Amino acid sequence: MVKPIFIANWKMNLTLKERVALAQQIKDDWGKNTDKEIVICPPFISLVQLAEIFKNSHIKLGAQDVFWEETGAYTGEISPLILKEIDCQYVIIGHSERRQYLAETDEMVNKKVAACLDNGLTPIICVGESLEQRQRNDSATVVHWQLNRALEGIELVDNEQLVIAYEPIWAIGTGRPIEPSDAQEILQVIRQTLIDHYPLTIVNNNIRLIYGGSVEPDNCADFSAVDYLAGFLVGGASLKRELFNQIVKLSFS
Ligand code: 13P
Repeated sequence: MVKPIFIANWKMNLTLKERVALAQQIKDDWGKNTDKEIVICPPFISLVQLAEIFKNSHIKLGAQDVFWEETGAYTGEISPLILKEIDCQYVIIGHSERRQYLAETDEMVNKKVAACLDNGLTPIICVGESLEQRQRNDSATVVHWQLNRALEGIELVDNEQLVIAYEPIWAIGTGRPIEPSDAQEILQVIRQTLIDHYPLTIVNNNIRLIYGGSVEPDNCADFSAVDYLAGFLVGGASLKRELFNQIVKLSFS
C-alpha cells in the first residue's frame, strides 16, 4: 500500500509567530511518525523558518506555488532552484484560487510541473470543477481536460513522484465536501487519464491521488474508504492543531 499523505495548505493565513508555533506543535505531534507522510505548505515567507524547525524530523515542506524558470529577471517570482535550496520537497501547482484570482492557465500549470520535476521537486497538481460545471454534468470532462493539459509532454522516470489533488471548487472552504461516492467517480476518471499517459506500474507506485475540499475530522474516515484515494489536501482544518491531528489519526488507519 502507498503511504498516505496529508498536505496542509495554510494559504495566506496566520502571523509569522503563529506559523512558527503551529509548525513546532506539528513537529512535536508527528515529527517521529513514519507511517503517514505530512507536508506543510506555509506562505513563502515562512519556508526558511519552517525548514529549520522540521530539520531532523519526518515532516516535509511544500510551497504553495513556483515559477517555471530557474533564475533571471522575474520580479516577485520564486524558482524551483530557490525552493530546493531550503529543502522544500513539494509544490502545490494550479490551485483553483490561483486559477481564479491570478489567471493561472493550464499551460502555466504544465510548465510549472515540468520545472518542478526537472529540479527534483514533487508537484501536487490541483484539478477540480466549479459548481456550474458540476451542475452541467461536466465534472469528469473538466477534470480529464485539466489533467491532460497539465501532463502534456511530462515523462516520469525512476523515483519521480506526482500527487494529483482532486479539489471540487464548490467544496473548498464551504464546509460542504463532496459525497465520497461522487469523489470515487472522478478519481476513476483521473486514474484512467493517468493510465493513458503512463505505464500501470508508474501509476501505481509513483502517483498518489488525494482529495481536498472541506476535509474535517468528521468526514475524513468516510473518504479513507474511497478506492485509489491516498491522502488529503487540507485547508482550514490544517490551521488548528487539534483538527489536523484528528484528521491524520482517523484517516487511512
Ligand atoms: P478547505 O479544507 O478549507 O476546504 O480548503 C481546501 C483547499 O483548498 C486545500 O488546498
